[in-house]
This record gives sequence, structure tokens and C-alpha cells, in this order.
Amino acid sequence: MSVAARAAARVDELTYRPVRTDEIEACAGIWWTAINDYVVRLGQDEIPPEMNPIIRLFTHLQSTDPERFIVATQPAAAGAAGDGDADADAAAERVVAFASAISRERLWYLSMLFVLPELQGAGVGRQLLARVLPGDDGTARATATDSAQPVSNGIYASYGIAPRMPLLNLSGLPDRPEAFGALPSGIVPVAFDTIAAGPPGGPGHRKLVAAVDALDRELLGAGHPMDHRFLRTERRWGWLYHGPDGTPLGYGYAGEAGRLGPVAARDEALVAPILGHLVSVVVPRGAFATWIGGAADRALVAALGAGFRLDRFPVLLCWDRPFADFSRYLPISPGLL
Ligand SMILES: CC(C)(COP(=O)(O)OP(=O)(O)OC[C@H]1O[C@@H](n2cnc3c(N)ncnc32)[C@H](O)[C@@H]1OP(=O)(O)O)[C@@H](O)C(=O)NCCC(=O)NCCS
Repeated sequence: MSVAARAAARVDELTYRPVRTDEIEACAGIWWTAINDYVVRLGQDEIPPEMNPIIRLFTHLQSTDPERFIVATQPAAAGAAGDGDADADAAAERVVAFASAISRERLWYLSMLFVLPELQGAGVGRQLLARVLPGDDGTARATATDSAQPVSNGIYASYGIAPRMPLLNLSGLPDRPEAFGALPSGIVPVAFDTIAAGPPGGPGHRKLVAAVDALDRELLGAGHPMDHRFLRTERRWGWLYHGPDGTPLGYGYAGEAGRLGPVAARDEALVAPILGHLVSVVVPRGAFATWIGGAADRALVAALGAGFRLDRFPVLLCWDRPFADFSRYLPISPGLL
């Protein structure tokens, strides 16, 4: 039997169902294996086996959208279990592929789709996608792909989710932070913790959530308070930027792990100075790293001028209908806008 015929035969035996929380680690392993399988062939470095951040992200995705985190499993190998012990049978199942999508108001976002190399090209990716894609109900459908990966670019574009904008990964330490430009006078950064001081759910907290939600609806096209809560557990700290009359004009995050973003700004000209403020108030353990869309060209030029460098091939943000203004919004990561 040919390799393709063997893959097709195994694909016929797959079961599709929502992930169990004890399978999230296996999904992280598939993510790692599937990426390294093609990046190494392209002569790029393997992605490092640091699984904890991706496991935390998957745990968050599953917690907010459990019915949109779907695995494909192979049945237990003959004789592996099958003694009537349901737990043992389930444990013997092998996860071979998974998809994870999230729904945020009128935005649907495919965060992950990965198939083990030996089962690729046999229709598993399409099967998973069909199980998580919403109907055409006016929701914007979006995802991020690797520009070096024709399969994923082709599969999503066939649903109208076409590559629209490069998303560039920059990292480094700002040797020339003045390239970001200073915040205009009258723009005051206030730490989220200062605004939300007081009891959880109290007036300060509600005011902060309302301000961030309003910015997200205007700039990302959807509010996503659950993702902001996740950022906090990831120890990314937020600042709100108030105008002279106290109106919130933007927000930005940075954490000691070096992650910069998301950043949202009502005025495109504020994105770079917000980055400049963030790198001045947070000392990273290593280097900073951030994701900047091609539409945020002023922030991109500023980050390069400050000393950041580009990493790897760009990611491509894909969507079927416009939903965000990426000249004024820098996403969390390609896995979570
Ligand atoms: C991308 C991935 C999830 C797709 O899953 P898969 O099971 O291999 O894909 P399928 O067999 O269901 O479908 C592949 C589709 O890709 C499309 N495709 C493949 N190569 C293509 C090309 N060069 N140009 C255009 N479309 C292409 C085809 O439309 C094909 O569908 P069809 O056979 O129905 O026409 C899987 O290959 C994978 O995990 N790859 C490595 C990791 C990865 O790149 N993940 C996505 C990160 S952005």
C-alpha cells in the first residue's frame, strides 16, 4: 500500500470530539511536532521544546470555547485495552490532530489547527475545520498562518479566509528607545492595578473593564474580557492611556517575560509612543518580543529604529470580512488576537 493509501486507511478510523482537559498536553505535542516537521525541512531552527506557555494558552482556549476545541483520535490499538474498563480504553486512544477556535462577539478566530505529519494531506484538517467553522451569519472569520506554509494558506483561503496582512514578530532590547517617540503632553498612563484598586467587581474594576471593552470594540471589532483576564494570569501588566480630559485613548501591556502587547490606540500616532512607554516601565528578564501588523507601519518603523529585529518568516493574518483596524491594534499573538 502507498503512503497516501495507508494514511487514508488510518483516517477512516478517526473519531472527532471535544478535547478532554487531560489531552491538552498531547495537543501541545502535536503542535510542536507538526511545526518542526516543516520548519526544519525549510532550513529553519526547531522551535524550542518550551511547552508550558502553549499548554497555558490551550487551557485558556479550551476553558472559554470547549465545544470549539476538537480533537481527532485514533482508536486504541488492538489488545491495548478493550477489557471493558472505559477509563483504560479512553486513555489508550491516541490524539492525532486538533483544532481550536474561539468566538468573541461577532468575531470567530481559528487559533490552532494541527495534524500529525504522517496523517497530513488526507482530509483530517478539513474535517476538523468543518466542525469548528460557524455558518455564514455575518460573523467575521479570521486566523493566522505561517507565510511559509502553502497548505494552511490554501485551505483557509478556499473558505474565503484569505491572507490579508503580514504580522511581524520583532524582538530585542531597545538600544534607542527615543525612536518610539514620547507620549504627547497631556496623555497620562495609569496602571490597570491603580484604576481597579478596591474590591474585585468594585467601581474601579468595572470602569476599567468598560474602558478596555470600548477600545476593543472600536479597534479589534469585538470585546474579549476573558482574554484580558488570561493576560493577567500570564503576568502581563496593563496601562490605560488617558487624554487631558480623562477619556481613555488606548491601552498597552508588557510583562517581565518580555511580551509586549496587545496595544490598542484610538489615534494611530499613539501606538509607537505607547510601546516606548511600556519598554520604559517594564524590565524584561531577557529580551522583549512583540507582534506588529504591516498596517501599523509607524510602530514597525519605530520598533526597528529602537533596535528591535525581525524573527522568522512573517505570519499572515487572514479574514473573510474586515473586522479590526490593525494600524491601531497590535494583537496578543497569532494564537489569540
Ligand atoms: C495545515 C494542516 C493543518 C492541514 O491539515 P491536512 O489534514 O494536512 O489538510 P487536508 O488534507 O484536510 O487539506 C489540505 C488542503 O490544503 C489545500 N492545499 C494543500 N496544498 C495546497 C497548495 N499548494 N495550494 C493551495 N491549496 C493547497 C488543498 O485545498 C487541500 O484540500 P483538498 O485536498 O480538499 O483540495 C496540516 O497539514 C498541518 O498540520 N500542517 C503542519 C502545521 C501547520 O502548518 N499548521 C498550520 C499553521 S498556520
